[in-house]
Formats: sequence, C-alpha cells, structure tokens
Amino acid sequence: MTTHTNPATVTVIGLGAMGRALAGAFLDAGHRTTVWNRSPGKGEELVARGAVRAASAEEAVRASELVVVCVVDHEASRQILAPLTDALAGRALVDLTSDTPDRVRASAAWAEAHSLDYLAGAIMVPIEVVGGPEALIFYSGSRSAYDRHEAVLKALGANVPFLGPEHALAAAYDMAMLDFFYGSMAGLVHAFALAGAESIPAAAIAPYLRTIVDILPPIVAGTAVDIDAKRYDGAGANLAMMTAGVDHVLHAAAGRGLDTSHLEAIKAVSDRAVAKGHGADSWASTVEALRG
Ligand SMILES: NC(=O)c1ccc[n+]([C@@H]2O[C@H](COP(=O)([O-])OP(=O)(O)OC[C@H]3O[C@@H](n4cnc5c(N)ncnc54)[C@H](OP(=O)(O)O)[C@@H]3O)[C@@H](O)[C@H]2O)c1
Repeated sequence: MTTHTNPATVTVIGLGAMGRALAGAFLDAGHRTTVWNRSPGKGEELVARGAVRAASAEEAVRASELVVVCVVDHEASRQILAPLTDALAGRALVDLTSDTPDRVRASAAWAEAHSLDYLAGAIMVPIEVVGGPEALIFYSGSRSAYDRHEAVLKALGANVPFLGPEHALAAAYDMAMLDFFYGSMAGLVHAFALAGAESIPAAAIAPYLRTIVDILPPIVAGTAVDIDAKRYDGAGANLAMMTAGVDHVLHAAAGRGLDTSHLEAIKAVSDRAVAKGHGADSWASTVEALRG
C-alpha cells in the first residue's frame, strides 16, 4: 500500500464484495473516495474509514472526475448509468463490471452515442488480491482516460495492461481467462470427488496435485505457440494415447456413480480431433475440433 502524494477524487458505484474492495484500495492509497450502492447498508466500514456516501447515483457521479462502476453485469451498470449521461459528461467512466464482449460493445456504443469518455476493464483477481502487487486488471477503450488516470487506477493493482482502443478487448481476455479458470476448477473438484469415491480424502491427494499445477506453466506457453503456429507435435505424448487416458478416467468415474458429463464433453472433442486425423498430434490439436 502506498499513500498517494497527489490524492484524487474517485467515485465507486456498486458496493458488492468487489466494489467494496476497490473503494477500500482507493482509500488505502489516500484518494478521496465517494461511494454509492443501490441497496442501503453496504460499505459501512468504508464510511468509517473516511469514504463519503452519496445520497444518489447522480450525486456520486458528480463528486469525482473518475467514476468507477463495478456491479453484477452490464445490464445493471446501464440501469444505473443510463439516466446519468449529463452528469457523466466530461468525466472518465471506468466500468470494471465483468460481462461478455458483446455486452461491453453495446455499453461502449451507448457511451459513444452520449460522447462519454469510456474505459472498460476486467478484474482478474479475487478481492483479497485487489490493491496488491499481484493484482491484474485489464483495460481497453479510451486511451486518454487510461493515460489520465493510470496512476490512480494503480491503487487497485500494479498490473494494469491497456490492451487497445477496442472496448471489448478486456472482456475478451477476461472470458478466455475465466474459460481456463472454470474448466480447471471443475476438473479439480471432480478429481477430489473421484478420489473420494475411492475413499481417498481430498487432503491426501492435494499435495500431489501440485505436480500437475507445476507442469502447467510450460504447457500454457508451449500450447500457445503451437496453436498460433498450427503445429501440433505429438512425438512425446500423442492425442490417441491421451484420449484413451480420458476414457479411463471417464470409466473410473462412471463405475463409482459420479457425474461424467464434463469428461464425456472432453472425450467428444478429442475423439473428433482423432477422427480428423490428429491422433499422432499433441493435445493442442484438439483446437481443430473446437472450431466450427
Ligand atoms: N468478487 C470477486 O472475487 C470478483 C473477482 C473478479 C471480478 N469480479 C466482478 O466484479 C463484479 C462485481 O462482483 P461482486 O463480487 O462485487 O458481486 P456482488 O457481491 O454479488 O455484488 C453485486 C453488486 O451489483 C449490484 N447490482 C446488482 N444488480 C443491480 C441492479 N440491477 N442495479 C444496480 N445495482 C445492481 C449489487 O447491488 P445491491 O447491493 O443493491 O444488490 C451489488 O453492488 C462482477 O462483474 C464480477 O464478475 C468479482
């Protein structure tokens, strides 16, 4: 935490778990922070720490040159912001609400129609990490808003890449990152369930899963190179062998009465890739079975 030598005025709209973390990080950095939430009663601890609670969303917007919104989805953020275009004029609007690229494009078109300076963002870390050196937040859209407020936005996280002027870019990165995350979480919980079905406590196998986690960084980097180059060298571990491996896990899970739907989906994709002639290639070649 570094207290800012040049405190800014910042507004945070939305005081869910993430909005409260964002407002708290701005306060930590010494910025004058105004907060507003649709429902009353949230953010008392922020007010106790010096945040100003606005009586209305409009009052919150008018309080600061930098307005940060973080609510459940873009429909909610537009419900809040649509009546406030006059108040938003001349301010930087930073929407850190996570949603699909198409919905962010719609929000950007709305902002453009009202000549608003609109920066879209996507928070890639849990609330505990917000404000710290590991916090990654993607930004895209208004470069001028980003440049003007980068120093203040860094109160939320040190790692704040600006991806480009297309507003939906941050959401597109967000969706790909979440695709990986939720797929991994589903696999993790299923693995614990499968171990449990053989009377192995999750805590017994957890330390060994570290081996899988540790091989992932080079796999991520290598698979990215292979997919971009459309080159799928399967000499060390080929897809036909790994498809048989998926089948073993599937049968082990089915034999214990566990849900196998995500394993069937994985196998359907790898079977399709093998049928397309990728049996001797690497797992990266399954990307060819994902693309229509
Ligand atoms: N929490 C995390 O770890 C995390 C991590 C990365 C990204 N994010 C993203 O951060 C955003 C907020 O998440 P959160 O954890 O803060 O969610 P949350 O705790 O469920 O809070 C949701 C917020 O949205 C507001 N809201 C919902 N519908 C609304 C509407 N129609 N009009 C006005 N306000 C509305 C809620 O207001 P009320 O209090 O009035 O219901 C509340 O402030 C999401 O886009 C999420 O994907 C969260």
